[in-house]
This record gives sequence, C-alpha cells and structure tokens, in this order.
Amino acid sequence: MSEQYQHDVLVIGSGAAGLSLALTLPAHLRVAVLSKGDLANGSTFWAQGGVAAVLDETDTVQSHVEDTLNAGAGLCDEAAVRFTVEHSREAIQWLIDQGVPFTRDEGAEHEQGAFEYHLTREGGHSHRRIIHAADATGAAIFTTLLGQARQRGNIDLLEQRVAVDLITDKRLGQPGDRCLGAYVLNRSTGEVDTFGARFTVLACGGAAKVYLYTSNPDGACGDGIAMAWRAGCRVANLEFNQFHPTCLYHPEAKSFLITEALRGEGALLKLANGERFMQRFDPRAELAPRDIVARAIDHEMKRLGADCVYLDISHKPAEFIKSHFPTVYERCLAYAIDITRQPIPVVPAAHYTCGGVMVDQHGLTDVPGLYAIGETSFTGLHGANRMASNSLLECFVYGRAAAGHISAQLDQVQPPRALPSWDASQVTDSDEDVIIAHNWDELRRFMWDYVGIVRTTKRLQRAQHRVRLLLDEIDEFYSNYKVSRDLIELRNLAQVAELMIQSAMQRKESRGLHYTLDYLDMLPEAVDTILQPPTYGD
Ligand code: FUM
Repeated sequence: MSEQYQHDVLVIGSGAAGLSLALTLPAHLRVAVLSKGDLANGSTFWAQGGVAAVLDETDTVQSHVEDTLNAGAGLCDEAAVRFTVEHSREAIQWLIDQGVPFTRDEGAEHEQGAFEYHLTREGGHSHRRIIHAADATGAAIFTTLLGQARQRGNIDLLEQRVAVDLITDKRLGQPGDRCLGAYVLNRSTGEVDTFGARFTVLACGGAAKVYLYTSNPDGACGDGIAMAWRAGCRVANLEFNQFHPTCLYHPEAKSFLITEALRGEGALLKLANGERFMQRFDPRAELAPRDIVARAIDHEMKRLGADCVYLDISHKPAEFIKSHFPTVYERCLAYAIDITRQPIPVVPAAHYTCGGVMVDQHGLTDVPGLYAIGETSFTGLHGANRMASNSLLECFVYGRAAAGHISAQLDQVQPPRALPSWDASQVTDSDEDVIIAHNWDELRRFMWDYVGIVRTTKRLQRAQHRVRLLLDEIDEFYSNYKVSRDLIELRNLAQVAELMIQSAMQRKESRGLHYTLDYLDMLPEAVDTILQPPTYGD
C-alpha cells in the first residue's frame, strides 16, 4: 500500500544545500529530507577541496567577486556573485558554529583576532581563500550537519526515496499554479508514496552522470532539473558542463578526484616524459581556471595519443603531503601509487553542471512554492565556468536564503492537504530491463563523444538525433511499466541531456566551458541561454 505524508517543507536531496536549509528553518516546522540511497551517497560527501570565502584579512570581497567574474568568462550575474561573496564569512561562521572541524593553521603565529584556520588556493583564485578539512571537506561538513539534523526532532531523514515527479495544481488540473509536493518511490516497499508539502525544495545536485566518465557519485542524474522542467520551470546555461582536470586514471579507480588543492599547494602537470606543459596554454599555468586546464590536458592527450597526463607533488616534503592530503595519499597508495615519490596519472572527467533551474536570490523558481538550491539551481553565480570551491559556498548561502524566504511566507500558505495517490493501475512489471541498461550506456557514451570538452555542430546534431530516439523509447517504457530507480534516473538524465544539447546548439560562440570548433571566437555580448518548457506560464 502506498503512503500519504504531509510536511511543511519537503526537501528532495540530503547534501550540503538541503541540510543547511533544513537546519536553518524554524524548529516548529515539520521537514522531510529525502535521499535516493543512503544519506551519505550524494556529491557533498565526496567533495575534497573546500569552501571559498573571504576570510583572510589581506583578501577582499571585491577581489573574490573579480576572480569569480573572470573565471565565468563574462557570463556571471554580478549581483548574484556579490550576494554570494558578501555572505561568505557569515556562512562559514554558521558552519563553524555547527561544529565543522575545519583544518587549523597550526604553524602560523597568530596576532589577536587573526583568522585561525588554514586557507588553501585553487585555480582562478588570486588569494588563499579555501577553508577546508584536510582533503575531505565534504565528509566533514556532511557528517556534522547530518549529526545536527539527527538531533532535531522536527526533521525526518528518509533514505531510499526517489522522487518521481512534482505535484502541482496544473498537473492535477485544478486552478492555481503552486507546487504541492511530490510523488516518491520508496525503494524498500516498491510503492510510490505521496508527499504533500507547503513548500518543496529541489536540492538534488547536478547531472554529471550524463557523461561516461565523471567524478560524481552515481546519483548525479539531473533529477531536480528534469522534474522542475516538467513542472514548468525555465532552465538556463545547461551547455556549461565543467570537466575537472584531474581525476585518477586507473582501471580500478571509479570516479576518484585528485583535488585541485594539490595544484594550489604546488603540484605540477607533466607529460609522460616529465615535461611541463601548462605554461604553453596560460601564464597562470597549473592555477588557470578549470576550463583552460581541462582543455589543455585534452589537447595534449589527443596530440600525443596519450591515455593520461601526470600530476606531480613529489617535490614537496612527504610529511606535508600526508598531512594535507591524507585521503588522496591513502587512496592512491591502495592502487600502488605513492604520491610522495611518484606522479599521479590523471585525466579530465565530468564534474559540475554550471547551469540549472532558474531561481531568484531566495532560490525561488518560476513555480510558486518550489525552490531549487545548490547544483540543481542556476543563480547566475558561475557564469560560463564555475570557479573552484564556489559551489559549496553557493549551497550554504542560498540554502539559508531559501530557508529565510520560506519562513517569511508561512502565514500566507495553507497547511498541506491530502493529494491524489499515484496511479499505477495501467502499468505492469517490466520484463525487458535490458532496454534501461542499454539506453544508460548509449546516452552516456554519445554525450562523452559528441557533447564533451571540444564540440562541433555536426557532433551536437548527431547527439540530438540520438537523444530524441532515446526519449521516445524511454517515454514508452515509462508509460507501460512500473517505475524503478534506474528508470526514473534514466528518464531524468535523457531529459537533461536533451536540454544540454539544445543549449549547446543555440550558443554560436566559444565561451568558458563551451568550446566549439565551428565558432572559435567569443561574441562581444555575453547572453544566457534560457529555455522555456512548453508549459511555462500556461
Ligand atoms: O578539486 C577539488 O577539490 C574540487 C573542488 C570543487 O569542485 O569545487
């Protein structure tokens, strides 16, 4: 039997954005936080680098803003950048107050009142401004926030729940335009339950799983973006997919990132013969923004027919490496790579979705009652290329801003009411799951080959043709068979892939992360790619 739940706030996603929103809401509200698998399965837990913020007394808001605008290649929304950066110190203080164990600056002599935490550097940042917990910052933040959420009697943390679709007035064919909750598959019972909520928040992360090679965990399927699109929200700038330059290249290492902080602390990129190459591409060399570094590596690999390049930090003292990068050190050692003595084989892999669901400064989407925060959203912060470690900052700033906005609306929104249950009367059990597995593989392969680091119009056309065929096949499957996690994720990924391809085809220039051999120049005017769903504004 399927269940009916009613909450004040339904948060779909249990990472940095969702948990900070849940913890900032007033404690008298009933809040549900859903996770597709175990709570720790999202991207936050795997984040290594840290959170960018203006914390050092020699740093300034203006400098962080300028670095972000430069990395974003002219496409950032300056107001969103300023809003985020101006709230950075306050967001970090909130995390410290929650108990996050950031790495302290043990070695430095501190004057009265000086900042006591260690700050590292990453690409595009002109200052040391990344606060971190060694090289496992995401795990430290996630564990702390989850611990806090567990102590709060008003927050239901629900695992193995996969949102299928949002429930809106329009979907129910009734007057009004609000979001009323979501249909959610309970993987333990196999039933689709109904969650009614006064406010619904999409905090489901990005869509890097659309590519064959990615640094992201399995769940990064663009669920929030696809659900919001189907519910009538606009999306923007989905052609900007960030490839992290340095993921471990090893046949057994699935998705393991080598944090950019290594380069911040002096690691050098080299070819197999030991030659450095980054200075040929950018005067900032290894500390150029990610789009430039990833493209340079891709260029060198293609030029030489090489399987990977190498990241070398072995010139630093072994003790320094082990204490700053214990996670990377241990993980590489498990593959018989001693990073204190050997260079690390690395390749670029899909890492971050810069575009997403369009929101305002409170994380509010086009649909009343529906918010999007973190990687799911498009706030305008990242422009054409996200600067390293700005994304966790965005999760906290917008998660807390959305919580404030929801709190201010409480009096105006009715309590949730009973909603129609999910109708499974027309579907049966699938006897052809091979179709799902095949389509997953096909989608991720052609996205990698045709919509990757270097694009052409012809490749995009090929990808568009294929994704449309897949969407038809998936729709038919979805109409006839019971939903499963794999089917829900495939449906969402294919939808987001189609939006990415459409966005890439609209951009007739190369800018930031969108690089096409057919339009190599950057146009004088920077314009966002905004897509409107067929149901927008009905
Ligand atoms: O390299 C890293 O540690 C990743 C940081 C980020 O994506 O912001």
